[in-house]
Amino acid sequence: MQHESILVLDFGGQYNQLIARRVRECSVYAEVHPYTMTIADIEKMAPKGIILTGGPNSVYGDSALDYDKRLFELGIPVLGICYGAQLMAYAMGGTVESADSGSEYGHTDVEIKPGSKLLSGVPEKTVAWMSHSDHIEKAPAGSSITATTSKCPVAAFEDPSKKLFATQFHPEVLHTVEGKKILRTFVMDICGCKGDWVMDSFIDTTIEQIREKVGNGRALCALSGGVDSSVAAVMMSKAIGRQLTCVFVDHGLLRKDEGDEVAAVFGPDGPYDVEFVRVDARQRFYDKLAGVTEPEKKRKIIGEEFIRVFEEEAKKIGKVDYLVQGTIYPDVIESGLGDSATIKSHHNVGGLPDYVDFKEIIEPLRMLFKDEVRESGRKLGIPEKFVRRQPFPGPGLAIRIIGEVTADKVKIVQEADAIFREEVDKAGVENLGQYFAALTNMRSVGVMGDYRTYDYAIVLRAVMTADFMTAEAAQLPWDVIEKVTSRIVNEVDHVNRVLYDCTGKPPATIEFE
Ligand code: XMP
Repeated sequence: MQHESILVLDFGGQYNQLIARRVRECSVYAEVHPYTMTIADIEKMAPKGIILTGGPNSVYGDSALDYDKRLFELGIPVLGICYGAQLMAYAMGGTVESADSGSEYGHTDVEIKPGSKLLSGVPEKTVAWMSHSDHIEKAPAGSSITATTSKCPVAAFEDPSKKLFATQFHPEVLHTVEGKKILRTFVMDICGCKGDWVMDSFIDTTIEQIREKVGNGRALCALSGGVDSSVAAVMMSKAIGRQLTCVFVDHGLLRKDEGDEVAAVFGPDGPYDVEFVRVDARQRFYDKLAGVTEPEKKRKIIGEEFIRVFEEEAKKIGKVDYLVQGTIYPDVIESGLGDSATIKSHHNVGGLPDYVDFKEIIEPLRMLFKDEVRESGRKLGIPEKFVRRQPFPGPGLAIRIIGEVTADKVKIVQEADAIFREEVDKAGVENLGQYFAALTNMRSVGVMGDYRTYDYAIVLRAVMTADFMTAEAAQLPWDVIEKVTSRIVNEVDHVNRVLYDCTGKPPATIEFE
């Protein structure tokens, strides 16, 4: 079934992912493609509308991009944003002036002219987000100017007869007060989308497509137990059942009981019909990590060993036709100019196992945002515990243990972490981006009963974060910290102190390594 869709043509701007996100919020499917997409391919995709993104280039001069002007003559509604607006103006005979006087950055007062189709319902005076140096000086003949600012004579223009619309400001950015409304008007009223994108139909269509593509072939999936690879694996299993083999490598650096939890869902007693291989590689990893204290070195060793283990398993399976990756939408469009991101390795520990001889990569989640991946996981019946998993790094607990990693230390951090997570969940603390226990390499004197102890300090870390690039330490309720502390020192051997990490990122990182 073909969904109604909006094509986002990417000119390399920083907010492209947001545009797709906003369109999706109208329950309409959006695809981001590089601006170099051919007219023939656009016609084949038959989008209901096209949005041209912002971008760092100028429409003229050395940095001008080579695009196809027929884009504006397809009869498909086009919305140009920022650079996209300038491009539309320029292509249709308007003029664009360079930097100097017209540049605007940040919140900008905008005056809306009456009668605009795109800006209908937007108050006469509003605030929008601007980020441009060039500006449109003259709108193309036949179009009308629909908004201005003190510096921009043409902050928006449109030519409804040609189905062309443009804004110099960024409606996709939340700082643009009426931005969501403007994009909704474009997608629903101007392009005529119905907004019928729902997860159920996405799942059904994807499963059908996978089935068709794989035919009688074999697929291999590296399962980490994280949300993305779990959802991808379940979708594949619904499509091709036992033609899929999931390989789950237990490197001995997983959270408490995690290996068994993954096996319970994907193993022979679980609800899914897949070949499941659980590799107990714990000792191998501990051996390799013996004596290693430097964090980057630990990461490298784990990445390499992971590949080696996976390679051995893949060889046992024999020829596979498809490798399944849990790549999600933000991974795909992170890189500029819409070039698909390079393949995401198994939770980026090491890189793609290039020895696995396969025809093609299947990425069933490449059109989904993280929250949509979770939602489809729920629809597929994956246990809530998996669906709600917080991020867990590929190198696992090795980067939550300062100094040398040993089986004993892993055990300490696993126990403490399980207690911390259990109590936080029980207390219903909300809005935490990530929370876990880590093991400092510090030992200090304590007293237990009549005995003097000389044991480790556990550190608790809980952060709030929007994007994991920056983070703040969370203000956990004191009674939660108190309870966790008491339980950890009482229940976990070799721990006599519990510390709370109050540091944000920067200057610290989220992980504790
Ligand atoms: P940091 O510690 O750099 O972490 O502030 C930011 C986010 O990235 C996660 N992280 C990783 N995820 N492989 C992963 O898949 C890794 O090697 C890795 N290192 C850090 C971390 O858990 C946090 O969510």
